[in-house]
Amino acid sequence: MAVTRVPFIAGNWKMNLDHLQAVAFVQKLHWALKDAKHLDGSVEVGLFPPFTDLRTVQTLIDADKIPFALGAQDLSTKDAGAYTGEVSGAFLAKLNCAYVLIGHSERREYHAETDQVISEKVQAALRNGLVPVICVGETSEDLEKFGASAVPVGQLEIALEGVPADADIVVAYEPVWAIGSGQAATPEQAQEVCAKLREVIADKLGQDAAQRTRVLYGGSVKSSNIASFMREPDVDGALVGGASLVVDEFAAIIRFQKHVGV
Ligand code: 13P
Repeated sequence: MAVTRVPFIAGNWKMNLDHLQAVAFVQKLHWALKDAKHLDGSVEVGLFPPFTDLRTVQTLIDADKIPFALGAQDLSTKDAGAYTGEVSGAFLAKLNCAYVLIGHSERREYHAETDQVISEKVQAALRNGLVPVICVGETSEDLEKFGASAVPVGQLEIALEGVPADADIVVAYEPVWAIGSGQAATPEQAQEVCAKLREVIADKLGQDAAQRTRVLYGGSVKSSNIASFMREPDVDGALVGGASLVVDEFAAIIRFQKHVGV
């Protein structure tokens, strides 16, 4: 039988908003959503600020009982030790982080993260009780050469190596060409790849996992196109970059949920 997957709207702030700006942002976003029914469990909102903001945002969320989930943008493959500049998943868990982004294309491109490193980071997240948000996606060159799904499917297959069938994970399909370009994938393109990614989850972790795991779309999501993505059966939410930094725009993306009745 169909399993209900709670839509997940996640804001990846990337390297934006310092901890003082984060305070104002979270308070304004909470205020903008005050009268919305969006936080009655029909949608989950996740914030992924820079590391230096996590403690501040956590304190704010806890103090005001704001129902936003907290996530980090990266973690180390290791849990502790002489790894200057790295951040342990164990430390993130202590800050009440529920989620961590892994394998974002900007980490793959600017930090040379390989599929192997990404697989180790998925293990590090699970070991520390964090839900990995595994990001996959093809570049425009990949798209031309191999079509849309081959590269993200291959990336996800490696990331899921050694992941137990009952693990709590989220998958985000982010075509690299759609990130920050203003040129989102079409809903049909997103649906096609998200459905293929769900098949990978079924192959690797079984049908139960495939049915309960949320697969998000990311890449130039805005309040004007969120509806078209959320109508697709295999798109369970969005990983939002630029639009998650604008209070009213992000609030509108989150608010959309109550109209779709998913
Ligand atoms: P944009 O929404 O700015 O295209 O970024 C998407 C993204 O990379 C989220 O992780």
